Amino acid sequence: MAQPPQASALESIQFTATAAAPNAITGLFSRKEGPVKVANLLDVDRRGFDTIGGLVRKYGPGPFFVRVAAANSILVTDPQDIAFVLDGSPSKFASNPGKKQAGMVVFQPDALTLSRSPEWEGRRSFAEHVLATGKPLHPLAARFLDVAYDEADQLAALGTITWEAINASFQRLTRRVVLGEAAAGDKQLTQILQSLMAEANGTPGKVGEQYPELLHCIGRYTSAPEAGSLVALIADAPGKIYGPVEGQVIHWLFAMGDTLPANLLRTLALLATHPVKLTLAREEIGAADLHDPQAVAKLDYLAGCIYEAMRLWPTTPMLARVALEDIEFPGGATVPAGTEIVIHNIFNHRNGDRIDYANRFAPDEWSKGEAGKDRALNFFSHGPQGCPGAGLSIFLGQAVLARLLHNHGLEDQNSGLTPEQPLPYAQNYFTTSVGLTPA
Ligand code: HEM
Repeated sequence: MAQPPQASALESIQFTATAAAPNAITGLFSRKEGPVKVANLLDVDRRGFDTIGGLVRKYGPGPFFVRVAAANSILVTDPQDIAFVLDGSPSKFASNPGKKQAGMVVFQPDALTLSRSPEWEGRRSFAEHVLATGKPLHPLAARFLDVAYDEADQLAALGTITWEAINASFQRLTRRVVLGEAAAGDKQLTQILQSLMAEANGTPGKVGEQYPELLHCIGRYTSAPEAGSLVALIADAPGKIYGPVEGQVIHWLFAMGDTLPANLLRTLALLATHPVKLTLAREEIGAADLHDPQAVAKLDYLAGCIYEAMRLWPTTPMLARVALEDIEFPGGATVPAGTEIVIHNIFNHRNGDRIDYANRFAPDEWSKGEAGKDRALNFFSHGPQGCPGAGLSIFLGQAVLARLLHNHGLEDQNSGLTPEQPLPYAQNYFTTSVGLTPA
């Protein structure tokens, strides 16, 4: 039984300023373009990385306390401790500590990710059925492939892929995949969700005024589900969901409409600046039968490229938990119930003491290497509460990118990335644009 070491007050201020606050300032739930630009100019992600590196050298590798604003939190960076926390979520470690709950409650008070037992178990089995979690292919993959190719062709017609373009395209793709073709043009639904998510950044701790309106808009499609959409699978889904079914659909809408395209634009920027890797990806795509959803799902090198964008610039920069009971970590450190726990993805994903490819674009580490088994890489999280939409996300990403790269080359316009230099700790997707050239 040993109390973990405690970072000093000064170190805690440094940690909060460089590694925790920037996440809140740039938007916890809806990223804000202006603050992201300033954070990039000030290189705050590198500063956060350096701060944590110094703390880990001094107090690690086991868990240690660091004060984040008012809460004295535990930082875990050792893969064994990270696995211990994520494998024990949500039974021992709940995924709704203060700020996350106070923000997310605005736009999804019944969210799976905020749930504890017994709601979590019911909602989780429901989500796993609809999203086909862990299955090699989603049962609706053939239709989703058609939607993805159609959206990729519309994007390609623009000639240049900007954040605005890929976000609009994925918002439409998302409405088509989740709610059906009838929802393709329903921008109003997306706007209501976006405005609620912007409100969540202020962590007000109460349900947003527009929330009932959002449920009503989603209800138009769940009440008469269209064949071939995710909501058509709800009728056969097991699991008691404790509340309106529409409340579960919200997470699918923002994760597919916002998070996924941010990662794909970054993948395109990486490929556009790494010609050898672009050639390898295009060779793999050229050899596959792109009419066959199974063949698309087996584009392992292309999947590795997407995983790398997520590893290098995790869209969930940190995972937060709160201990529901007194905890003894595998190394013997003990913390009392109620302790908040932070897993800092930006640090863990770039930890050069463990990962020799930390700062370069290394898709092979996924397609041929051991990256998939590394418990420190948690852009999709891991364990019982790992992202249930991971497989579907990667499939949709493979489909859109395969279609684009089958028919086009890429031209970097402004990313500033290069294989000759370590990749930067931050990448501003708001200002990224990638040109498409004739194949
Ligand atoms: C590239 C896209 C995505 C990324 C990077 C991502 C990442 C994550 C991460 C890191 C978590 C764990 C969060 C935490 O524990 O604090 C998570 C949870 C979750 N994700 Fe995703 N996600 C993506 C796409 C999706 C999609 C498309 C869906 C649904 C269609 C989805 C549904 C969910 C749900 C429902 C949870 C909560 C799971 C639970 O608490 O049991 N995600 N995701």
